[in-house]
Amino acid sequence: MEIFLDTANLDEIRAGVAMGLVDGVTTNPSLVSKENCSFRERVVEICEIVEGPVSAEVVATDFDGMLKQAHVIAAWHKHVVVKIPLIPEGLKAIRRLSEEGIRTNCTLCFSAAQAYLAAKAGATYISPFAGRLDDAGHDGLELIEEIRNVYDNYGYETKILAASLRHPMHVKEALMLGADVATLPYGVFTQLAKHPLTDLGLERFLADWEKVKDKVGPELEG
Ligand code: E4P
Repeated sequence: MEIFLDTANLDEIRAGVAMGLVDGVTTNPSLVSKENCSFRERVVEICEIVEGPVSAEVVATDFDGMLKQAHVIAAWHKHVVVKIPLIPEGLKAIRRLSEEGIRTNCTLCFSAAQAYLAAKAGATYISPFAGRLDDAGHDGLELIEEIRNVYDNYGYETKILAASLRHPMHVKEALMLGADVATLPYGVFTQLAKHPLTDLGLERFLADWEKVKDKVGPELEG
């Protein structure tokens, strides 16, 4: 499963990329608005840091407007994937963009039926928002499982990009259910590697080593 960072913050993206484990980035208008910067400049900056897909979202909601914005955004950098909301006009725009060879990430997906239409329209990625469904009292992970079944049953190649993931258990479940990509806030990404028993175990190993290091490990010093 690929890992994307769900952020428009350059420090977070640089730190994630430096670990060598980040395959792409997703942004949305809310994430960009937190950064107080030019949309175009920020998207290009991100594209130059990450060697992979960078999702940038249109804000028009009609077919012509979405298409126009998609063309502008897609021309900013070869890494750009245009994010389009899952509404009827959006599906129409995805169909057209897919015919033009422009990659799309169909966002704000909350049902398997919606995901089916996005795949049929030719979306490159579908973004089911698991955490927001959980917040609304539904099972967000069940949606990922349903989409996996639908796509596998009919051979759709649209990639399932598990989104709105809030904690490491969400990530583990996305892995178990066969999501193609998980997009993670930086905090969730850093939490993935952590376990208190790892820290405790390391503390003990180092304390024991300290007691005998002169005798057993002089070649590691200095
Ligand atoms: C995905 O592309 C979205 O930007 C994101 O995952 C939304 O997450 P949220 O529900 O935590 O805002």
